[in-house]
Amino acid sequence: MARLLATKPLSLLGREASEEGEYTLKRSLGPVHLTTLGIGAIVGAGIFVLTGQAAALYAGPAIALSFVFAGITCAFAALCYAEFASIIPIAGSAYTYGYATLGELVAWIIGWDLVLEYGFGAATVASGWSGYFVSLLEQLHIYLPPRFTTTYGTALYFYGNRWEPLASLPAGTPVAGLPHVTGVFNLVAFLAILAVTAVLVIGIKESANLNAAMVIVKLSIVGLFVVLGADYLIHHPGLAHANWHPFIPPAQPGGAFGIHGIAVGAATVFFAYIGFDAVSTAAQEARNPRRDMPIGILGSLVICTVLYIVVSVVLTGLVNYRQLNVADPVALGIDVTGFAWGSLLVKIGAVLGLATVMLVMLLGQSRVFYSMSRDGLLWPWASAIHPKFRTPWISNIVVGSIVAFLPALLPIDKLAQLVNMGTLLAFVIVCAGVWVLRRRYPDLERPFRTPLVPLVPILGMGLSFYLMVSLPLLTWEVLVIWLAVGLIIYFGYSVRHSRVQALPADETASSQR
Ligand code: ALA
Repeated sequence: MARLLATKPLSLLGREASEEGEYTLKRSLGPVHLTTLGIGAIVGAGIFVLTGQAAALYAGPAIALSFVFAGITCAFAALCYAEFASIIPIAGSAYTYGYATLGELVAWIIGWDLVLEYGFGAATVASGWSGYFVSLLEQLHIYLPPRFTTTYGTALYFYGNRWEPLASLPAGTPVAGLPHVTGVFNLVAFLAILAVTAVLVIGIKESANLNAAMVIVKLSIVGLFVVLGADYLIHHPGLAHANWHPFIPPAQPGGAFGIHGIAVGAATVFFAYIGFDAVSTAAQEARNPRRDMPIGILGSLVICTVLYIVVSVVLTGLVNYRQLNVADPVALGIDVTGFAWGSLLVKIGAVLGLATVMLVMLLGQSRVFYSMSRDGLLWPWASAIHPKFRTPWISNIVVGSIVAFLPALLPIDKLAQLVNMGTLLAFVIVCAGVWVLRRRYPDLERPFRTPLVPLVPILGMGLSFYLMVSLPLLTWEVLVIWLAVGLIIYFGYSVRHSRVQALPADETASSQR
C-alpha cells in the first residue's frame, strides 16, 4: 500500500526540471501574455460547434446560462491549478502535481485520465474542424465524397447545395426526393489528426507569435459575428423576440430543456473552456506569478465566458435553436445577417483557429506520456526521442494513429462528453490535491496561493462533480472501463518499473517536509 502512495520528491522534480532547462526558463511573461496564451488554447470547437448543438439538443437559448455555470466551475478549479503550477517548478500537468502530492497510484489515474482530456480532446476538435473544412469547400463548390466526410451510419441529404445530416434540415423538409448517402468514415478528420501528428514528429517550436496571431484571427472572427449579428437583431427585433421565447424551453422527457437541460448543456459546453491549464503550465515563466497567474487564468476565463455568452445570445437570436444542430452553426448564424463574405470568413477563421487547438492538445498528450514513461510508468518507447527531430516521435505516431480513428468513427457530441468527463475528474483530483497539500505541507513555498482554502477547492470539486453527474450514463460507463484498463496496465507493468519506487526510502515522501 505504501508503495502505491509513494510521492515523487519535489527535490527530484526540481533536478529533472533543471536538466531539461525548464527550471531556468526566463521569467518574461506578463499578465497580457498569459491571458493571450489562455485564449489561444481555449477558443476552439466548443464555441464554434458545440454551442449550436447543445442549444438545439439540451438548453435552447438558455445555453447562455450553461456557459455561465461551466465558466464558474472552471474558475474555481483554475485557482487550484495555479497554486500547483507555482509550487512545482516544471512545465507540468495535473499528472506531475498528483505525483508530487497524492502518490503514484493517483498520479497514474490522473495521467491515464488526461488521455481523455488531451487525446480525445484533439479528436473532438478534429471532428469540429472537419465540419468547417467540408463546409468551406462546399461553399467554394468543391464536393468531397460525402460518405467520407461523416461518421459511420450518419445519413446525409443534399439540400441547399450542401450535404446535411437529417437533424440539421429545417423541420418538415420533405426528404423523400432528396439525394442521400450514409456515412462510412470521416476521412477528413482522420487525415487532419495524421497531419498534425506529422507536424509534431518533425517538431514544432511553440511560438508566442503564432499563438498571438491565432488569437487575433479567432477573436476577430468572433467579434465580426457578434457585431454583425447584434446589429441585425437590433434592426429585426421581431426575429430576436421569436427566437428567444421561451428563453428556457419547457422540460421534455429524457432530460432535454428546462432547468436540467441547462445543466446538461453546461456539462457539454464545458468543453469550450478546456485549455486554460495552458496558462498554469507557464507559471515558471511568469514575471510575477503571485499577481499575474490569477490575472492570466481568470482573465482568459472571464474574457472567454463573456465572449461565449454574447455569442450564444446572438446566435440563438439569429437562428432558432432547433435549427442549430449543424456542423458550422456560427457560419449559419452570420449567413442570416446577409453579409456576403461573412460565412466564408467565419469558416476560414475556424479552420485556422481549430487547427492550432488540435496541435496544442496532441502536444499536451505527448508531454504527459513522455513524463509517465520517464517515470517508468509507461514503456520506454513512449519517451524515445528521435535522433534528428528531438521529438518523442514513437509516442506521437502511436497516439496519433489511434486518436485519428476516434473522430472518424464517433460523433462530436459523444466525444466531447467523454473529454469533459475525463477533464472534470482531473479537476476534482487537482482541487482535492491543493487542500491535501495545504494540510500536509503548510510551510511549503507557494508563489501563488489559492484564495479561501478549503472553500474554493470544495466549490471546485462540488461543481465539477455536479457537471459529471449531469453527463449521460454511457459516459460514466466508458470512464469506468477506461480507468479499469488503466489499472490493469498499472498493476501489470508500471508498479514493477516505477523509478520513484526504486529510489532510496530517504529520498521519497519524507524529503518534502
Ligand atoms: N476549449 C477548446 C475547444 O473548444 C478545447 O476547442
